Amino acid sequence: MMDIVTYGNPILNRTCKVVKSFSNIESIIDDMFDTMYEAEGIGLAANQVGLDMNIFIIDVTHTDETDDTHIFINSKILSIHGEKKYFQEGCLSLPGIALDVERPEKILLKYQTMDKKWHKNEFSGLLSRAIQHEMDHLNGVFIVDRVSEVEKIKYKNQLKILELDSKKHLKKSLDQKRFLL
Ligand code: CO
Repeated sequence: MMDIVTYGNPILNRTCKVVKSFSNIESIIDDMFDTMYEAEGIGLAANQVGLDMNIFIIDVTHTDETDDTHIFINSKILSIHGEKKYFQEGCLSLPGIALDVERPEKILLKYQTMDKKWHKNEFSGLLSRAIQHEMDHLNGVFIVDRVSEVEKIKYKNQLKILELDSKKHLKKSLDQKRFLL
């Protein structure tokens, strides 16, 4: 199982790297699914488990929209379509916060699968929303960055606490590394 990193960890504030080597990809993605299910999430981006890679996974099979789990590598949103809609989103990296986020209904996405094949598909519904949420992570964007300043201010204290907590964790892991000779 991997540790989910939260708000305040710098890996969540930058654009993730393009994946070039696919040699360990299967075990990384297996671990990501285990971690996501353990945390009861429906989507997870690689930087949320501390990996600087353009990868995310989604499982919305609990809805009747789709039967399969999804793996997206080196994704890029090519275009957005449809009406903008509000929907309440939570985030594994922002525990305790849920916000109404406005997003376009449909997206056209270019991405690779584990077999290195490129795909170009249009997505809608919850899957489209989840993809947009995870793509935001890979670009260093949080749901709190998608709402108005007035709305964000309500969460100021919670965000400050998460940030301090992340710094503590980072310092602890650095201290631990000193003993790995
Ligand atoms: Co999230």
